[in-house]
Amino acid sequence: MRTLLIANWKMHYGPMKAGGWVRAFRRERLPKDLDIAVAVPHVSLAAARASLGRASIPALAAQDAFWSSEGAFTGEISPSMLLEFGVQYCLVGHSERRLLLGETDEMVARKAAALQVAGIIPVICVGETEANVKKGEVAKVLRAQVSAALASLKDGKTPFVFAYEPVWSIGSGKPCPPQKAKEAHEIIRTAIQKKFNSGVAENARIIYGGSVDANNIAEYVSTTGVNGALVGGASLDPRVFGLLCRTANPA
Ligand code: PGA
Repeated sequence: MRTLLIANWKMHYGPMKAGGWVRAFRRERLPKDLDIAVAVPHVSLAAARASLGRASIPALAAQDAFWSSEGAFTGEISPSMLLEFGVQYCLVGHSERRLLLGETDEMVARKAAALQVAGIIPVICVGETEANVKKGEVAKVLRAQVSAALASLKDGKTPFVFAYEPVWSIGSGKPCPPQKAKEAHEIIRTAIQKKFNSGVAENARIIYGGSVDANNIAEYVSTTGVNGALVGGASLDPRVFGLLCRTANPA
């Protein structure tokens, strides 16, 4: 399976700066057998697309989408609107949205399903908090988040991605030990197998996120069951993200 690396700018780089990042990143020497995407703020999609032109690397991703295709939903953006920019992936359920904006498993599930219907690959973010770790409920929390999302997916054939992002590791400089990430990925893969079948589970992409940088990416992508990474802080500098991509796949 090809490794997938997604840069997550979070709330950085408006339209004035987005094009510069894309142009600088395109100047990086990039491995051919990696899938690379960049998740930009909605308002920067047009600028990022304009700088990309017809180029397909990096693929464009969005950071959120609403579950309806149009209607009276002030402030929201629909999957079909994202499609107009050629968006291929869209994050849903990032922990910052779950924790700061009250997104529930049910909302995340509806968003993931709507994206699939529109032909955009949902990148469903799941992960435990530090409090969950203390209470020994990591597996329980992960299973609940994953099965809620899986329940809404059309079938096992339409692509989807899970991103395992332990909340305590995001932006903290405390990467999750690869062995622990491996265990979490196994829990997610088992849930996929239960919902669909082992073929779907084997082919499902599950990526890791949380303090990934150019120094530790190699450890993650060489860990069984870790199919890539979602990268926040270390993606803000296009040259650092370029180096991270080369380190993930030195071939
Ligand atoms: P980080 O963020 O790489 O800065 O820890 C990852 C994420 O939240 O997607």
